[in-house]
Amino acid sequence: MKAAIFYTGKFGSTKKYAYWINERTNFPVFDLKKERPDPSDYDLLILGSSIISMRPTIKKWLKAHWPAIKNKPVLLFTVSGTEPGHPDLQKWVLNSLSAEILDRVHYVPLRGRLRLEELPWWLRSMMKFAARVEKDPDVKKRMSEGFDYMDKTGVEPILDWIDDTIEKEHLEVGEPQLAW
Ligand SMILES: Cc1cc2nc3c(=O)[nH]c(=O)nc-3n(C[C@H](O)[C@H](O)[C@H](O)COP(=O)(O)O)c2cc1C
Repeated sequence: MKAAIFYTGKFGSTKKYAYWINERTNFPVFDLKKERPDPSDYDLLILGSSIISMRPTIKKWLKAHWPAIKNKPVLLFTVSGTEPGHPDLQKWVLNSLSAEILDRVHYVPLRGRLRLEELPWWLRSMMKFAARVEKDPDVKKRMSEGFDYMDKTGVEPILDWIDDTIEKEHLEVGEPQLAW
C-alpha cells in the first residue's frame, strides 16, 4: 500500500499537522505549493488545507485531481481559526467543494495558529482593518490579537481513520516509506 500526505498552507500550521501525521505513519509529505506529486500513484490519501478568506486553499488542486482519486480512501483535514463544528466553517467548505467530494472524503476540521507578527505588513494592516469592522467579538479578538490552538492530539482521529481504513480496505502495509 502506498499512502501520502498532501497539503497546502500559507503560514506553517497545516504543515505542522502534516508532519505530526508523518511522525506517526512515515507517509511521505508533499507541499502542493512546491511539488507536483501524482495522486493516482497512491492508494490512500491524506489531504491538508488551511482556510484562508473563507476558502480551503486546496480547493483548486482537489477539484482538478478529484477524478483521479475519487475511488480511493481520502481524508481531508482543514486548519482554521474558526472552531470545528461552527456553521460558518461547514458553509465555507460546502460552498468551495462539491457535494460529491464532501460526501466521499472523510472530513476532519482542526484549529490552527495566527501570529500577526509573522504576516507581511500589508496583510497585517488588512487584518487590522477587518478586525475593526468585524461584528462577531470572537472573530474580532482572533483577528486583532492572533491565536494559537495548535494541538498535537488533533491528529488522533486521523490516525484512527488511517488504521480503520487500512483494515477495512485490506490494504497491505509494506515497508515504512521514506518521509520526504
Ligand atoms: C489572511 C488570512 C485569512 C484568514 N481567513 C480565515 C477565515 O476566513 N476563516 C478562518 O476560520 N480562519 C481564517 N484564517 C486563519 C487561518 O485559517 C489559520 O491561521 C490557519 O492556522 C492558517 O494555516 P497555515 O498556517 O497553514 O497557513 C485566516 C488567516 C489569514 C492569515
